[in-house]
Amino acid sequence: MKNNIFLIGTHWGDEGKGKVVDVLSENANACIRFQGGHNAGHTLVINDKKFILHLIPSGILRDNVKSVVGNGVVVSLDALITEITELEENGISLSNKLFISENCHLILPTHIALDQARERKLGKKSIGTTGRGIGPSYEDKISRKGIRLLDLKNETIFLKKLDSLMEYHNFILENYFKTKCIDTNSVARELLEKYHKISKYIIDTDEYINDLCKQGGVVFEGAQGTMLDVDHGTFPYVTSSNTTLSGVVSGTGANMSLIKYGLGITKAYSTRVGHGPFPSELHNDIGQKIGKIGGEIGATTGRTRRCGWLDLKVLKKSIRLNNLSGIALTKIDVLDNFDEISICVDYGSINYETFEVENLKFIKLPGWNESTVGITKYDDLPKNAKAYIEAIENLADISVDIISTGPARNEIIQKINIFDA
Ligand code: IMP
Repeated sequence: MKNNIFLIGTHWGDEGKGKVVDVLSENANACIRFQGGHNAGHTLVINDKKFILHLIPSGILRDNVKSVVGNGVVVSLDALITEITELEENGISLSNKLFISENCHLILPTHIALDQARERKLGKKSIGTTGRGIGPSYEDKISRKGIRLLDLKNETIFLKKLDSLMEYHNFILENYFKTKCIDTNSVARELLEKYHKISKYIIDTDEYINDLCKQGGVVFEGAQGTMLDVDHGTFPYVTSSNTTLSGVVSGTGANMSLIKYGLGITKAYSTRVGHGPFPSELHNDIGQKIGKIGGEIGATTGRTRRCGWLDLKVLKKSIRLNNLSGIALTKIDVLDNFDEISICVDYGSINYETFEVENLKFIKLPGWNESTVGITKYDDLPKNAKAYIEAIENLADISVDIISTGPARNEIIQKINIFDA
């Protein structure tokens, strides 16, 4: 039986997970999202056509792969329908391929309004959220007020729940944030209408997911990254879900004993979008050069990403927290034209007011000044590129099993087949 695999970003998200899932999905039976919502953005380049998926697992682009949105994901019906429509317009069929958990919590227009109003009020201390209502939706889930997809099955129950939740949201919007209320009746009408368009995809997913795992070849696709985990990340500058290993289990109901291999997705350098501490950030020309070559602009919000050298301390934490078996090192080609490349190997405490960091330590390695774009065999990499990869392996005590050498599907080195590892 093929291994079931989970895949998690090792830093602050945007590590290139979408491309890796897309490549792995060629040999997968299913791809499953377990947390987050349409704050994620996975960019895929297939036959020169760019797809940005926010909510639907990246495996959807393959004919024989089932795509499941697990119960841990928060769902905006607007975002879901936009994505379904774009896929269908590109000739990608979703029937008998897309399954969405009835336990997913909804993102309401008031969640979005609350997210944005809160960010405005925080001013300079804002989190830098995607403004998509993710935090407020998870808050309502944890405080047991939230509305799940299954609630939309029964119109009377749904309207009652929506009325009471929106009354509460509107009270806060009007009286605390001094901003406009949102009309409950029009939200109710729109949600019911949209629900009917997607209800055929909604099922009770936990049994289905465990059955898929028994057949093997399942890829659990994380969104965001380890340092954005609400428990283990750079709190409060985090997202509102468990982006780490525990999210795989709570967000799908999968039996962990059926999942054999954990793949960390690590970018060859580090980036962060939104506010918060970023110890290895480069506030200089080198940081700008990395961002420019790497096209480091957010797929979801279009924001410029902050860039820095690879943060090894975070990588080690991520390996520990997620019990990773190996890593996929992405965007190595972005470092092709640097005379010297650094790795941030350690630092002391972080000041959460100023984001200053004590005792930053770097090691320097020579660059390779040669193109790695499109290389598919490890031995064909320049000597110094191999030395960089091997330094990461030695320092973090993990094997780099996959190396991505460009944005397209075929620009990849797979040192081993992780479905058999
Ligand atoms: P939220 O998830 O919209 O609440 O945003 C919380 C933090 O997570 C902000 O710093 C966002 O920039 C960051 N974030 C959310 N989703 C992503 C992602 O997919 N990639 C990178 N950062 C993200």
